[in-house]
Amino acid sequence: MDITFTNVTMSLCFFVLLFALFKKMFPDAKTRDKLKVEKIIEHLCDKVLKGGPSDWDDFENNAKIREKAIVNMALKNGNTFAMHCRGHVADALGTNRIIATCEPTLVKELFLNKVHTIKRPERYRLAQFLPGLDGVLFQDGERWKTHSRALIPVFHASNFNQYARFMNEAAVVHVTQTGWQKEVEKDLLKSIRQLATTMVLAAGYGVDPLGEEGKQLRSAIYGYDEKARFRWAGKNPFKLLFALGWVWWDAQRIKKAVKVIVDNRKTGNSRDVGSSTNKPWKSAKTLNWIDRMIEFKFPLKDIYNEVNHLHAAHKAIAIIITFALYEIGLEKNISWQTKLREELKSNFDIAHGKFPDKESIKKLPIAMSIWKETLRMHPISLGVLRETGRDVETFVGTGDAKEKVVLPKGTPIQILLQAMHYHPKFWDTPEEFRPGRWIDADDTSQRSTTSDLKVKNAFIPFLDGQRQCQGRFLAELEFIVVLNAIILNYEISVPSTYEFMLQPDFYPEMMHPIPLNVKKI
Ligand code: HEM
Repeated sequence: MDITFTNVTMSLCFFVLLFALFKKMFPDAKTRDKLKVEKIIEHLCDKVLKGGPSDWDDFENNAKIREKAIVNMALKNGNTFAMHCRGHVADALGTNRIIATCEPTLVKELFLNKVHTIKRPERYRLAQFLPGLDGVLFQDGERWKTHSRALIPVFHASNFNQYARFMNEAAVVHVTQTGWQKEVEKDLLKSIRQLATTMVLAAGYGVDPLGEEGKQLRSAIYGYDEKARFRWAGKNPFKLLFALGWVWWDAQRIKKAVKVIVDNRKTGNSRDVGSSTNKPWKSAKTLNWIDRMIEFKFPLKDIYNEVNHLHAAHKAIAIIITFALYEIGLEKNISWQTKLREELKSNFDIAHGKFPDKESIKKLPIAMSIWKETLRMHPISLGVLRETGRDVETFVGTGDAKEKVVLPKGTPIQILLQAMHYHPKFWDTPEEFRPGRWIDADDTSQRSTTSDLKVKNAFIPFLDGQRQCQGRFLAELEFIVVLNAIILNYEISVPSTYEFMLQPDFYPEMMHPIPLNVKKI
């Protein structure tokens, strides 16, 4: 029996190897095209574009200047260059050398011309195969269209607005509960994440956060952390296999929690056994992702994957809120905290039913400039990956040594959000937190992508075009709601001993959790 099994396995391995060898010797047309593009990219990186491995040293080794390290690469090599990277960034990109850009005209082309949005880069599509990660962000083609069609009406600002009262009450309850002050003194982000999950359980999934379904789902989605699992595994193949099993196991917990919700909804069972008051998800008018996916007859696998995926995307707002509180909690920015408090005070009074909602956002220039300035200084990712859908002409190099090149169809390009947001040619004093730049430029409008030096497409925290962030309206509303609850209740400050330093990663992960001191007003 054992011998037969070994024979079968060996024969199978032999045929797989033979097949791989055959494919290498006689590549099909698609593979030949891919190899041709790879050769051109190699030539561009070796002979035409500037940029070398030592550029990465500052980013990797010097946490104190990490935010500036990438823009420094662009200043040295030109806005489109060969980025040599290592560590988590190289792992995430699947390469340690890639064409990277912070050139607004090229970025505009890549975001706004639909030809580049049809196909997702290989790296994104791979993520779909990881249990729990298969969601809109990584999909393309018909699959993306179907998922988007099901989910987008929920993302509409007028839908989320129906949850505004609930979100405001939840925020006030969260920040005034006993122990909150001690909690945020240790780790502000951890606390804001809990609050953000309460909001998305209700407004996104239509689940009562205080009910049994809500508690189970919260615990399951919190347990999922594929990044931590793979970081633990490193490059060890056995550990990697174990990490994969671990992620699968985490995803099964989510599947179990989501199945209960889906079954209950299909049989019309009560999903509302929690003690939350003010339950907008009970209204026939409010939409949520789970109901929509059931209506679109998604299989359970797609529903639980998307539920987890959307929670992961939603985490971004907790990070941005934390950074905003950090910025206005710094001694040097305290005047912005005072101005914000005055603005919020003159507009809202939750006890008397005057709370932030989608309409009031437009009347809050101070809050909106703090929102935009936080997004500028702390983009949610160092960059995003795109793949050219046709040949694209652009200029590379610095000063007079600019050269026209053609990036062939199928070139992966890393769009450097952070470098765009810190580029001294696009921004006046980019390293300073200066919400006033938006007010001076009379540009607090939400849709603007123009910098304070009037460079178009230089401000792209949510990207632009067809594949921009779908959650920006929910994010905006949550931002104002949480800031309002905190700033009207407390004076906040960041201890002077705290040193802000990021990890050498794609996503803004702190070296040390941000502590916030709060004093009741
Ligand atoms: C301030 C907070 C947020 C920021 C800065 C942000 C930023 C982004 C960015 C840059 C992308 C594009 C990623 C890429 O293509 O590589 C994106 C996509 C996306 N975001 Fe957000 N996001 C935020 C909040 C949210 C929230 C609260 C949700 C709600 C679940 C959400 C849902 C999504 C979805 C579904 C996509 C995929 C869109 C698509 O590919 O069609 N985001 N977001």
